[in-house]
Amino acid sequence: MAKFKHVLVIPYPAQGHVTPLLKLAHCIADYGVKITFVNTESIHAQVMAANPGLDEGSSRVKFVTIPDGLETDEERKDIPTITESILRVMPDHLQELIEKVKKQSDGNEDEQISFMIADLTVGWALEVAERMGIERAGFWPASASALVMTLHIPKLIEGGVVDNNGFAPKNDLITILEDLPAYKSNDLVWSCPEDPAIHKAIFKFLSSIVHHSKRTNSFLCNSFRDLEAPACSGIPGALPIGPLMASARLVHRRGSLWNEDSTCLNWLDQHPALSVIYIGFGSTTIFGMEQFYELAHGLEQIARPFLWVVRPDLTDGPVTEFHDGFLQRVRNYGKVVQWAPQEEVLAHPAVACFFTHCGWNSTLEGLSNGVPLLCRPYFSDQFLNRSFICDVWRVGLGVDGDENGLITRHEVRKKLLAVLGSDEIRANCLRVKEMARKSVSEEGSSLKNLQSFIELMKA
Ligand code: UDX
Repeated sequence: MAKFKHVLVIPYPAQGHVTPLLKLAHCIADYGVKITFVNTESIHAQVMAANPGLDEGSSRVKFVTIPDGLETDEERKDIPTITESILRVMPDHLQELIEKVKKQSDGNEDEQISFMIADLTVGWALEVAERMGIERAGFWPASASALVMTLHIPKLIEGGVVDNNGFAPKNDLITILEDLPAYKSNDLVWSCPEDPAIHKAIFKFLSSIVHHSKRTNSFLCNSFRDLEAPACSGIPGALPIGPLMASARLVHRRGSLWNEDSTCLNWLDQHPALSVIYIGFGSTTIFGMEQFYELAHGLEQIARPFLWVVRPDLTDGPVTEFHDGFLQRVRNYGKVVQWAPQEEVLAHPAVACFFTHCGWNSTLEGLSNGVPLLCRPYFSDQFLNRSFICDVWRVGLGVDGDENGLITRHEVRKKLLAVLGSDEIRANCLRVKEMARKSVSEEGSSLKNLQSFIELMKA
């Protein structure tokens, strides 16, 4: 019988990456595989503070840390700073870690790292693995369509569709593959309409992934074939294994970086089915204060039960605070938390729709639970996800900005009412939910892909 392996798993240090890779690590560990999960020291401290005991017990998933090159109290939100620092120090630390494991194994081959699963956004790790003779696979935390677009960057530059900074000089629709929809320039995965410097930084970062992706032939995607068939077929070596879900057993093992406020689940219990609007914009979205107030006014005007995740750093103000008397006025129907157990919230029968930034994890969590979506993307792949949500799967609507780009309270109210009232959207949501469940069921394509991947690792 083939031996079980010791697998090293390494995510990019951010919530939207740690969560799906930790879920994947636990799924693989269920097949008897030993996992070493590598976080940066900073992320590890945050995860452990929010989930005491996560690293204890009989789990086959062991956590280790390496530094990201920044001081403990240094700001990590600036994308160019953190990515430069990661690239400067982490490859050597990763190599040292693998050598240390080998030394400690005392010649026992079962203990040595024999396979690596690296987030493609830390694709340099695949080069470390190659150098050390370790088998490897890439993991992509966004949609398969976003991966196809990323891998097509050289062709897009060559064809003059985008320039060397990723800007599309012409206003034409962009075709990546024949079977995929034609995209608007805002749908480019590196898009950041509010800040051209971030656009350029993400483009440079994603361009490096194209180079690193040549170090592997296997691309695990947190998606499923029935959802993104053309994109999956467009990536040689694609293994769609999603949606990775936090099953009841894993619910407390998804590595939240903030303390989840579970009082909102009891609050939801007190509401009838399909009555609550859930609003959550992920871990990195930032609003200007004017936009933040407009959203709050829109929710106040609609006067329906709502649950809103307001991270302390959700706005660009020094602290995120509501305008005068807002919380008092909405106290009978609104609840605000700093961080929610989002997957349980979306699975709750009381939730009627999800006002989202369209991060890929949030999108998948909404789809898997059949929840209609209202989309307000912020940057990166979120615009592409919105296009799929609104135009391809037709499971939600987008909000439009006014002539200054502001999404007004009237727009928020109008679109929320439209999403809540659409039988067509709800029917499409239920169809996609069924497809998602099927893909991870016994005979489902994602489960089969995961099982063949495990076989590949063992071989
Ligand atoms: C980022 C990018 O924005 C996203 O587009 C990319 O695809 C992955 O990385 P993020 O902005 O954090 O992620 O959004 P998202 O992908 O939606 O991930 C957020 C995760 O945090 C989700 O798994 C969600 O369930 C969780 N979450 C969010 C909570 O558990 N509680 C909350 O209150 C809010």
